[in-house]
Amino acid sequence: MSEFYALVPAAGFGARMGNELPKQYLELAGKPMIWHALSTLCAHPDIGTVFVVLAPGDEHFARYDWSHCGSKLAPLYCGGETRAGSVANGLLACELEPDDWVLVHDAARPCLTQALLDKMIAELRDDPVGGILAVPVADTLKRADAQQRIAHTEPREGLWQAQTPQMFRAGVLAEALARCNSVTDEASAVEALGLQPKLVASDSSNFKVTYPQDIVLAELLLTSL
Ligand code: C5P
Repeated sequence: MSEFYALVPAAGFGARMGNELPKQYLELAGKPMIWHALSTLCAHPDIGTVFVVLAPGDEHFARYDWSHCGSKLAPLYCGGETRAGSVANGLLACELEPDDWVLVHDAARPCLTQALLDKMIAELRDDPVGGILAVPVADTLKRADAQQRIAHTEPREGLWQAQTPQMFRAGVLAEALARCNSVTDEASAVEALGLQPKLVASDSSNFKVTYPQDIVLAELLLTSL
């Protein structure tokens, strides 16, 4: 039977946050940002091991107390130049069976819940391809020209915003990333193999903390969940 694993790329610096401390370690509701998603993933009963891919010289991760995650949490100091590189390196290092499911999740999405994990695993565990959490686009979309004026309005029908986790078989994901490593999410690499990942309806609370103002919103959500 296939096992379930999580893999969290956390080897980036979060340049858009404009802070010296890498984004995943910024304090959020009294803990480093990465603590929240790792704790949620480790607490899920179906997930066997949570691999976290860190930059080779990371000196922050080991400073925190991870004892509540027990032996489920496995740090790997093999991050790459890009997010896709970090995921590919992590997959190589954790030596999963090709049919095992791997849920790749951003360290910068701290508001992931057990309910979203349950929903994703229930909808995808028998799927031939796998899929991603995503939300239908709610806002009207504008295409900008070089002067930052509206060139035209993009139809939003059928458009979804991709989130994480992104859940694929370890073998398919490793092959997809080996062929195509310039992608910003795992699904893009799997799509390039000609496969069609499923969209699992999520909600906007699972947003990615990217800009300084996102910290306040994430703290509000974390303290009300
Ligand atoms: O910067 P961004 O928010 O797009 O990064 C998404 C995730 O990918 C973060 O968890 C970040 O730490 C990770 N990442 C990585 N290795 C890189 C770049 C980003 O693991 N080289």
